[in-house]
Amino acid sequence: MCGIIGYIGYRDAGEVITHGLKRMEYRGYDSWGIAVNNDDGLNVYKRVGAIGEIETVDIGNSTLGIGHTRWATHGEPSEINAHPHLDCTRKLAVVHNGIIENFLSLRENLSAEGHKFVSETDTEVVAHLLEKNLNTSLENALIRSLPAMKGSYAIVVTNAGKRELVGCRYRSPLLLGIGDDEYFLASDVTAILEYTNRIVYLEDHDVVTITDEGYTITNSGTSVERAIERIPWSLEDAQRGGYEHFMLKEIHEIPKIIEETLLEYVTDTINLDISLAAGTSEIIFFACGTSYHAALIGKYIIEEVSRIPVRVEYASESNYHRTPLTRSLVIGITQSGETADTLNAMRRAKSFGAKVLAITNVLGSSATRIADHVIYTRAGPEIGVAATKTFIAQLIILYLIASKLAMPPIDETEKFLTEFRMLPEKIRQILDNTQAITNIAKILAGHNSMIYIGRNRGYPIALEGALKMKEISYIHAEGYPAGELKHGPFALLGAKTPVVASVINDHTHEIMLNNIREVKTRGSLIVAITDERDEEVERYVDFTIKTPATSAIFAPITQAVTLQLLAYYTAKRIGCEIDKPKNLAKSVTVE
Ligand code: G6P
Repeated sequence: MCGIIGYIGYRDAGEVITHGLKRMEYRGYDSWGIAVNNDDGLNVYKRVGAIGEIETVDIGNSTLGIGHTRWATHGEPSEINAHPHLDCTRKLAVVHNGIIENFLSLRENLSAEGHKFVSETDTEVVAHLLEKNLNTSLENALIRSLPAMKGSYAIVVTNAGKRELVGCRYRSPLLLGIGDDEYFLASDVTAILEYTNRIVYLEDHDVVTITDEGYTITNSGTSVERAIERIPWSLEDAQRGGYEHFMLKEIHEIPKIIEETLLEYVTDTINLDISLAAGTSEIIFFACGTSYHAALIGKYIIEEVSRIPVRVEYASESNYHRTPLTRSLVIGITQSGETADTLNAMRRAKSFGAKVLAITNVLGSSATRIADHVIYTRAGPEIGVAATKTFIAQLIILYLIASKLAMPPIDETEKFLTEFRMLPEKIRQILDNTQAITNIAKILAGHNSMIYIGRNRGYPIALEGALKMKEISYIHAEGYPAGELKHGPFALLGAKTPVVASVINDHTHEIMLNNIREVKTRGSLIVAITDERDEEVERYVDFTIKTPATSAIFAPITQAVTLQLLAYYTAKRIGCEIDKPKNLAKSVTVE
C-alpha cells in the first residue's frame, strides 16, 4: 500500500527511483511520482497509472531524489493527488506511506494560517507543516512537525538545492540501504536490492538524516545506533526470470521453497522453537486475506494432533471479540509483516499479557518488532499481488508447528517428515502436467460466477481457491463448506454457476460425493480436485483434476497449488493484469 523511495549518491536519481518504484509497484500502482533535487531546485514528474515498461524519466540530471507509487486512500488517482507533494514555496517535497488521521483539522488550521492546498490527500499537510516549522534544519522541522500528526507514516523529505534526505517512520515500514558512497530509503528491500543488500531497519519514531557524508539516526531526540543487516535475497529473486508473470514464477518456486524450509528447520527432527506454546490454554491466530486461510488450515491440523483449542480470527475483527488471555498463545500470520490490522491485533494481544508469535516472510518487518518470537517463512520476495508461494510456505511452517505440538499417543513427526520430503517432487509433477488445468480454465473463463466447496481441511482450501480466482480473474467466486450449500447458495446453482469441489481422500470422501451429486442434479458444471487414486469421483463430475497421491493431511498443499494454477490460467485466458489486479495492493498498511 504505497511504496516510497529516496536516493542520494552518484547515480542518476531518476533512474534509481524509477527502478525502485517498479519493484514496489505491488504496493500500489494507480499513480506514481518522482522529485529530483539539483542546483536548480526541484523537478517533479507525476503520472496516473502503473509505471509499466518505463526505465527512466526525463527529469533533469540529479543524483538525489524521492519517489512514490500510490494506492489511493484520500483522493482519486490523479496527477494532483500523486506524490511527491510540495509546500507553498515549492522547495520541500514529501513522499508518504500510511495515513495522517487528523489531516482534516491540520489542513483547516494551516489553511487559516494562509497555506494553499492543491490536492485532496492527507500527505499534503506534511509538506505545509514542514514549511511552517522550517527554521534551522529540515531534520528539526520534521521533528517539530511529528507531534502534530496522528496516524501512521513513513515519510521521506527533500529540500530544494540541499544535498540532504530526511526520513522518519511510525507504524509504516521504512528502511535505510547502505551502498558505497550512496544511500537509499525505501518501504521495501526489493526496491533497492539491485544496488545493495546492507540494510538498517528503522524503528518507530526514528528520524534519519542522510547527506553525502553519511547518516545519523535519532529517536525521540536521542542519537541512536542501529545494526546493519545483510539481506540474503538476491536481485534475481525479485525478477521475473523469463516467466510471463511473477505469479507463475512464484508458483514454480514452491518446490524449492519447501526444500529450503526443510533444510532450515528440519534435521532428523524438527528444530522449530515453539517454546512460547508451553502451558498455553489456547492458540489464537490473527491474519488477513490468504494468511487467514493458512491460519484456518493450521487450526484443522493443530486441533487434529494436539489437544489445544485453536481460534482463528480476521485481524480486522479481533477488536470486537473476546480478548486473549494471559495464557493464550497468539500467532500473527502475515507474509509482509506489515498488514495494519494484523499488527494491531498482535499489539492488542500483547497488551492483555498474551504471548505473541509472528510467522512472516520479511526480516525486520513490523510484525517482528511486536512479537515475542518470530518464525520466518523462507519464501524469498513475493512480487505478485496474489499470494501463492508465501501461502504454501506458511502452511509448511504450520504443519511443522502442529507436529511439534502433537500430544502422545500421537507422534506424527516421522510421518510428517517423510511426507514433507516427498512434497517438492509431487508439486513438480503438478507444475509439469498442467494440461487438465488449462483445459478447464478455458471453460471457467466463460463464466461470471462460481462456487468452491470443501469439507474439513478442504474447506479453507475452497476459500483460498475462490479468493485466488476472484483476485486475479475478476470472476465472482465464493468458497463454502460443502454442507452449507443447501442453506442458501443452492439457489445459485445451475448451468451458469460452475462448482469447484476440493475432495480429500479421508473420512469426508463419501459425504463429499453426496454433496457433489446434489449439486449435479441442480445442473451446475462440476470440477473436482482430488487425489490420483480416487476413481470414484469421476463418475459424478464433469471434470477432474488429479493431484499426486499424498496422505490426506497434506492434500491441502497439493490442492492449493492446483487451485493457484487454475486461477492463473483462467485469468490469463481472460487477459487480466495478473500480477497487479485492479484495486488491490500486496501490503495493506492501513486499517
Ligand atoms: C493483501 C494481499 C493479500 C494478502 C493480505 C494479507 O490483501 O493482497 O494477498 O493475503 O493482504 O497480507 P499479509 O502480508 O498480512 O499476509
